[in-house]
Amino acid sequence: MVAHIPVLFQAVLDGLQVRPGGRYVDATIGGAGHAAGILAASSPDGRLLGLDRDPAAVDVARARLASYLGRVVIEHRSFVHLAEVARSQQFVPVDGVLFDLGLSSLQLADPSRGLSFTAEGPLDMRFDPAGGGPTAADLVNGLSAEELAALLYRYGEEKQARRIADAILAARPLHTTKELVAVVERAVGWGGRRERIHPATRTFQALRIAVNDELAAIEAALPQAVEILAPGGRLAVISFHSLEDRLVKEFMRRESRDCICPPDVPVCTCGHRAMLRLITRKPIRPTAEEVAANPRSRSARLRVAERVQEAGSRRQEAGCRRQEAGCRMQEAGCDTR
Ligand SMILES: C[S@@+](CC[C@H](N)C(=O)[O-])C[C@H]1O[C@@H](n2cnc3c(N)ncnc32)[C@H](O)[C@@H]1O
Repeated sequence: MVAHIPVLFQAVLDGLQVRPGGRYVDATIGGAGHAAGILAASSPDGRLLGLDRDPAAVDVARARLASYLGRVVIEHRSFVHLAEVARSQQFVPVDGVLFDLGLSSLQLADPSRGLSFTAEGPLDMRFDPAGGGPTAADLVNGLSAEELAALLYRYGEEKQARRIADAILAARPLHTTKELVAVVERAVGWGGRRERIHPATRTFQALRIAVNDELAAIEAALPQAVEILAPGGRLAVISFHSLEDRLVKEFMRRESRDCICPPDVPVCTCGHRAMLRLITRKPIRPTAEEVAANPRSRSARLRVAERVQEAGSRRQEAGCRRQEAGCRMQEAGCDTR
């Protein structure tokens, strides 16, 4: 069986400042690689709540962590429900929350999931196949050319979106991964192994993101993670492509500011208070050694932030940017020294 190698493993444990007795949430437990590390580093009494939207991942994680009986709870839920699950499991406040976004090697290696363009399988791509919702086949066979092109452009940043969408329409119905790969290869050409990435990479990424509504889930979950963190608790997020990383970066930046008014507004009216302190100004990337040992890690970016003690009580790094404009934000809690 294929193993999932956790990426940026030590950086995650360091970023979360895992300690004995701590309480942690792994919102994407997957193959439980990070989770096992968190449980080991928080021995003898640290606790972990794990979530995954994929029932197969939940089974794998439960089997792998069986020896940590009494210290671990694993739920088959989407992290869209993070705060509710954490509350019902008495994991609030929590010392650290981890999101390792995207999909695992276990999911990629299972042809029946339809997530890999290198293996023949049904065009499914749902993380939770029993949870309903459209499959990739429903999208490629049901959307108009305009809708499909917009989806490929938005979620895959695919420059040849319209050409691929037209080719899909001409070839459908499509039922399998290989049928889709052949259509994309014919539409945009494929220079073989000389090219950096396979031409179907972006199409598969776009369909997977759309099928699982991944970006909306991240947007819904990040504020919940902050909400359940204890003061001083850490949020660590690993993303694998620029769409995810942009969401994470913008969220952390915004939540580390005492004021988010537009720059041309002289006096703060937003009332926003910083909830986070940035720990990583730039994302942590894997070393060349890690990429060589685990090529899947090559696009990983880890960002870490800390829940502040008291929201709004002190100047945040990216806080008030309007001192020169005579900003009177002290009244509103922004110390501009
Ligand atoms: C990269 S893997 C995590 C691997 C894990 N950190 C490890 O060390 O084995 C990402 C996992 O997130 C899960 N996932 C994706 N979207 C999710 C969501 N909305 N809620 C919960 N889990 C989700 C996927 O099913 C997958 O198992």
